[in-house]
Amino acid sequence: MTPALQIGALRKAFGGLPATDNVSLEVMPGERRLIIGPNGAGKTTLFNLITGDLAPDAGTIRLFGEEVSRLRPHRRAHRGLARTYQIITLFPNDTLEHNIALSQLGLSRRRWNTFRALTDYADLYGEARRVLGRVGLEHLARRHISEVSYGEKRRVEIAMALAQNPRLLLLDEPLAGLSREERVGVTQLIAGITREVTVLLIEHDMDTALDLAERITVLHYGSVIVEGTRAEVVADPKTREVYLGDG
Ligand SMILES: Nc1ncnc2c1ncn2[C@@H]1O[C@H](COP(=O)(O)OP(=O)(O)O)[C@@H](O)[C@H]1O
Ligand SMILES: [Mg+2]
Repeated sequence: MTPALQIGALRKAFGGLPATDNVSLEVMPGERRLIIGPNGAGKTTLFNLITGDLAPDAGTIRLFGEEVSRLRPHRRAHRGLARTYQIITLFPNDTLEHNIALSQLGLSRRRWNTFRALTDYADLYGEARRVLGRVGLEHLARRHISEVSYGEKRRVEIAMALAQNPRLLLLDEPLAGLSREERVGVTQLIAGITREVTVLLIEHDMDTALDLAERITVLHYGSVIVEGTRAEVVADPKTREVYLGDG
């Protein structure tokens, strides 16, 4: 089977310091892969390289068999790649449904046209509400982002990514900063994503995301130091070393 994602000898340095240091990994279609590692381990940089937000210094990135490491981010998105960010990037003074409609316009590269009747965008709002329904937020469609809780904002971001019908979804610390209750809700939401979508999930705290993952990759100083099943990774002394050093 062709991997959903295949990374080979990927490197990226900032000012001479490697953030991604010879990383190779393979994720199979339908897999839920957890990427863990201390702050500064290079987790977000790895996502930025996969999406094309950053250009690698060396190495290869294959999406469903196709080499994409020189493609612009929107071309990778058109091949089925979607992501959420560690820091929430929603427009606080717009409604939930407008935020989602805007993100879909971005993907289709249609531009918001003030001379066009708003009803032309009715399909977008209809779709936005359907997407909000998928994450249990339809009743908040007309609220402003600034009026909803942090956990609800996280759901909106996941909804936006799912609205693109991705084949590979990258979630950067979707549970960070959430209350225990919100974590349960967002974890269930992620667990409920169809297996047609391959999911890569970054989590700083090992315990929280363990339930979701089938395989785990541990990053440390930009390198993969441990990889395997949940049991293998938890049992590996290198994992404990990294997490003890993390204070
Ligand atoms: N755009 C950037 N410019 C310079 N240094 C960066 C940039 N992005 C990340 N870094 C550095 O690369 C390293 C890895 O960062 P990051 O990928 O954000 O780690 P993580 O997500 O695992 O916490 C850190 O030392 C960070 O300071
Ligand atoms: Mg990060």
